[in-house]
Amino acid sequence: MLRLLVLGSAAGGGFPQWNSNDAASRRARAKDPAATPRTQSSLAVTCDDRRWVIFNASPDLRQQINDNPALHPKNGVRHSPIAAVVLSNGDVDHIAGLLTLRESHPLAVYATERVLSVLHTNSIFNVLNPEHVERRRMKLNEPFEVCDRKGDGTGIVVEAFAVPGKVALYLEDASAGANFGSQPEDTVGLCISARDNGSQCFYVPGCAALPDELAGRLAGAPLVLFDGTLWRDDEMIVAGTGSKTGRRMGHMSVSGAEGTMAAFENLGVKRKVFVHMNNSNPILLADSPERAAIARAGWEAAHDGMEITL
Ligand code: MLT
Ligand code: MN
Repeated sequence: MLRLLVLGSAAGGGFPQWNSNDAASRRARAKDPAATPRTQSSLAVTCDDRRWVIFNASPDLRQQINDNPALHPKNGVRHSPIAAVVLSNGDVDHIAGLLTLRESHPLAVYATERVLSVLHTNSIFNVLNPEHVERRRMKLNEPFEVCDRKGDGTGIVVEAFAVPGKVALYLEDASAGANFGSQPEDTVGLCISARDNGSQCFYVPGCAALPDELAGRLAGAPLVLFDGTLWRDDEMIVAGTGSKTGRRMGHMSVSGAEGTMAAFENLGVKRKVFVHMNNSNPILLADSPERAAIARAGWEAAHDGMEITL
């Protein structure tokens, strides 16, 4: 068994975003049932309903833990069902929540060498006391079982693979050319499977394109949770909320001839779920034509608290 719990389904900033005064964010603040608020990008997975692995630690992690009883302490005066954290990149919306997990709790943190170097370089992450929190290197294309701090297997097997993307915004090197010094280990997709029965899914919250090799890897999968940051590439420019395209930010867009819906059309993926949706993306709104369009193409928009069992 593989049980997934979406902790946060929005991209960086969440929905509503603190400084967004657009119509969608206003609807969310007004508790419009078609504009459900969403916290920032994170997924929790368990194989035994006892120990959970958090995939990406968002700045909203404290609220996400409080909102989900499965992640509440269960026994003794100090306890957490969270055994480990796996990071798919070094974006602030995926690592800032590590700071919430201080308090000397035993944990394992898995990331690529590149992302580990971000944690190493920023001494604030030393609040995760190395006596209790072990950082473990995740190598590309080498499946491993996620283990807790003691080394006991969680039953969850992960394989990280490079996907087209971009180095975290705060690490961009403008002098390094068009890709800002991005390297393959900066952004990974994760294949998550159950050791015991082989149930499998893919978690790809950030992805700039779907080259043939990646499409082949995802083809026929029972479940893919995929980057749903923007509906269209220039959406933030058109709305007057930003100057960057999705491509510039390392995200392919949902719609259009080169978009995600088109790219997945013939891949035979059984269940397709958008995650990491930006507050500007109209698929966040349950009554929008864009939400209807993704539904027609067989996609769902994840919501916080969404549970999927494989
Ligand atoms: C992204 O997903 O592009 C980043 O999280 C953006 C950011 O750092 O705000
Ligand atoms: Mn992000």
